[in-house]
Amino acid sequence: MKFSINFDRKISIAPMMNLTERHFRYFFRLISKYPVLYTEMIPETTIYYNLKNKEKIRKILEFHPVEHPIICQIGSSDSKKIQEIIPIIEEFGYDGINLNCGCPSEKVRSGNFGIALMLNQKNLIKIIEVAKSKTHLPISIKHRIGLESKEIKTNYEYLRSFIKNCYIAGCEHFIIHARFAILEKDPKKNRTIPPLLYEWVYKIKEEFPFLKIEINGGIQNLQDIKKHLSYNIDKVMIGRAAYYNPYEFVELDKAFMDSNQKIPTRTEIFRKLFPYILEQLEKGIYPHRILPHTYGLFYPLPYSQKWKKFLTEEFLKLKKLKIQEIKKEQILEILEKSLYFFKDLYSTINV
Ligand SMILES: Cc1cc2nc3c(=O)[nH]c(=O)nc-3n(C[C@H](O)[C@H](O)[C@H](O)COP(=O)(O)O)c2cc1C
Repeated sequence: MKFSINFDRKISIAPMMNLTERHFRYFFRLISKYPVLYTEMIPETTIYYNLKNKEKIRKILEFHPVEHPIICQIGSSDSKKIQEIIPIIEEFGYDGINLNCGCPSEKVRSGNFGIALMLNQKNLIKIIEVAKSKTHLPISIKHRIGLESKEIKTNYEYLRSFIKNCYIAGCEHFIIHARFAILEKDPKKNRTIPPLLYEWVYKIKEEFPFLKIEINGGIQNLQDIKKHLSYNIDKVMIGRAAYYNPYEFVELDKAFMDSNQKIPTRTEIFRKLFPYILEQLEKGIYPHRILPHTYGLFYPLPYSQKWKKFLTEEFLKLKKLKIQEIKKEQILEILEKSLYFFKDLYSTINV
């Protein structure tokens, strides 16, 4: 194991495909150092079939040291494959491994992972056991409170027995998205239509006080976080709110790590990102690949839409140039200029 730090934190930022990729994670660290971060789900086959291609594996698994503590989320359905890839994940320095048992998308289900693992528990147990035998890193699972289709609707007993079986297999940390998965609906509808049944998660914690129970679904702000923690829940996972309204979480460090901490303004956070954008340019990454992950920063202030539009248009123009032709000064000028949109606000609020 190269590097692993204590990540017994009460908050995490959820894995979200196409959203919580490494540029977002770096950006989020400028807002808060406290929460555990998760990668997007990586299907095990993506690693397994590239095991001999070191450069590709590096691109898939590499992360910036500031991202610690960081967990790698895997979509797995095959204990033979996971056994090969777990040591590689460990070698890259992740602080833990999470198994996706909650994604209801048809594509994921056809690969027999995600929510399919809540039905095929025999296979999940095998995967947990094999994963545990291959690493000292903590293994957690992320799942729903149950699932529903034309043929089946699970109940609380099902959830309880699912957790018990996974615990016996060696899992002690459960991230529970407090919604059913409705198999006939697409993932987007599955994040809004099934109601949030937080009581089921509280009850699981009551029945399994020795397990780490993390609650997820619909959590918007610090007040919500504190409410869930008051039910003895160990940890709280924030998804969409962290991406679309990240500044809402700027007080996490002050609340959970360092009560004397000065709260940075949105503008200060944005400016702290500039060196990273320039550093990435040197590595061949265009700014338009990074900036969209910051677009929630000024939400819900006036001019936030205009700011986003300006950055998008300006950086798409640069996309047409070869990366070596782009000057750092050009980038800094665009970034600074974008902040003019908020100049009228500076006199009234601390932007
Ligand atoms: C665009 C998007 C992609 C997602 N991708 C994943 C994923 O890769 N793995 C996973 O376990 N959950 C994924 N989720 C689900 C979230 O992790 C989280 O469980 C869900 O959004 C509910 O939390 P929230 O209401 O706080 O957003 C995704 C959610 C969104 C919005």
